Amino acid sequence: MHTTMLELENIQGYLIRGYAHMLYSRFVYMQISDAEAFKKWLSKSWQDMTSARHIHDKSKISPTHLNIAFTHDGLAKLGLHKENLDAFSREFRQGMVSPHRSRLLGDSDESNPENWNWGANHNEKIHLCLMVFGNDKSGRDDLEKDKIVCLDYYRQLESEFKQNGIEPIFYIDGQTQPDNKEHFGFRDGISQPIIEGSGRVGDKDDVVKAGEFLFGYKNEFGVYPDTPLIVKEQGNLNLLSPDAGGSGQKDIGKDGTFVVMRQLKQDVTKFWSFLNESSKNPDGSINVAESLKLGARFVGRWQNGAPITLFPDADPGTTSDVNDFGYSKFDKDGLKCPFGSHLRRTNPRDNVDDHGKKESLKLSKQHRIIRRARLYGEIYEGSPTNLTPTGEVGLIFICFNADISRQFEFLQYTWSNLPKNKELYNDPDPIIGVRANAEQGEEQNFTIQDLPVNRTIKNLPQVITVKGGAYFFFPSINVLRYLSTI
Ligand code: HEM
Repeated sequence: MHTTMLELENIQGYLIRGYAHMLYSRFVYMQISDAEAFKKWLSKSWQDMTSARHIHDKSKISPTHLNIAFTHDGLAKLGLHKENLDAFSREFRQGMVSPHRSRLLGDSDESNPENWNWGANHNEKIHLCLMVFGNDKSGRDDLEKDKIVCLDYYRQLESEFKQNGIEPIFYIDGQTQPDNKEHFGFRDGISQPIIEGSGRVGDKDDVVKAGEFLFGYKNEFGVYPDTPLIVKEQGNLNLLSPDAGGSGQKDIGKDGTFVVMRQLKQDVTKFWSFLNESSKNPDGSINVAESLKLGARFVGRWQNGAPITLFPDADPGTTSDVNDFGYSKFDKDGLKCPFGSHLRRTNPRDNVDDHGKKESLKLSKQHRIIRRARLYGEIYEGSPTNLTPTGEVGLIFICFNADISRQFEFLQYTWSNLPKNKELYNDPDPIIGVRANAEQGEEQNFTIQDLPVNRTIKNLPQVITVKGGAYFFFPSINVLRYLSTI
């Protein structure tokens, strides 16, 4: 079967690679104060953006990477005509904090945008996000050294912000631990879709059509995603590709996509206290093994990454990236990995409700995202069930998708927040679905499928609070150049 190869030199690199060797990064949320000055800068610096080709070609790997994404307000500020702005999808146009989307995403109570640090209506408007990464090439996996490289590069860019017409509103420094663990102590970023045509190979069940993550390629429905086309002519249109769908219009989306960013504060102490309390010995002492097991059931993997579907009884101990498994063969009844676990909800793989294996895989592939999360806050030491950070810690949740509504929002709203799911009645996702003051009288539980009867862990605590977020457009390198001409 013919596979369309991706135009790697035209795709910003962070979509294709996680830059895992760059342990330190800074995400800078900015406003454009002078559109003309900014476009002048963009007319040169589109060439400085790290492309996916850069990363494939080892000789070109530099110690720093730079990528950029724009909000709808940002594209408007650049001067994109209203007719062209209206060609973007409704979710992107409305943004993350419209009342409808807040309801959908469960952003209420403490997570209400009224309490956010950035991205909400009371915060200063964000036009773009600069993503700055650094890696010290002399040492391997040294966070402090990577930090110096990243921040040196940032300062260099910062010294010209003013003359380039942009000002920082807010920034978050994002780190990656060498063992890739997030703050609750679980290895993260293991399961990712493989984009067809990207040159990466792997299990065919993970290979997903490029159009799920990039405009200008066919998606899992066999059609081109709903790309923003130029309706009213402006700028140097020779820089844009024609619409692959054949309309004859120019495509501003081609080789670009949307990126979702959410600052998710994690209450690590609450998380482990709850697990310890729910699994304690009859004499009241902590049962570490049981607490770890319950944690693994919440997530779907042991702390070292091994999937509980394949290792149901104990953590095999060694760091694991095992991802080659399905549920229909190994765990149809949820007796190993509960239906309510974070893993099984956010990607049910070959076992979606009562659908057969083939249909399930097809459905799952229509709701996949590429995750690029990074940690914020101090990394701290502690035993696995007793992690007590000193300050605020959390995850900068970042994901790429061509259809925010069918991919990210569907995962959050339908598969994670909704308390009713396969064989579940009052069970939201135990990590990302629990709300502080859920509807009156609504319990929030976690069901462990078991024989002869299921077990229920009652009154789940809310361990994640949203502190900021926005939807961004992540243009291709050519489109960045085009934007400098409008
Ligand atoms: C602080 C918040 C979060 C934490 C601590 C967290 C943690 C984890 C961990 C430890 C894994 C297992 C590692 C892996 O399979 O790669 C995982 C997987 C995953 N998470 Fe999250 N996550 C968070 C937020 C989210 C959000 C907001 C979404 C989407 C709405 C999400 C979607 C996923 C998906 C799709 C997978 C992979 C499932 C699979 O393919 O098997 N996560 N997460």
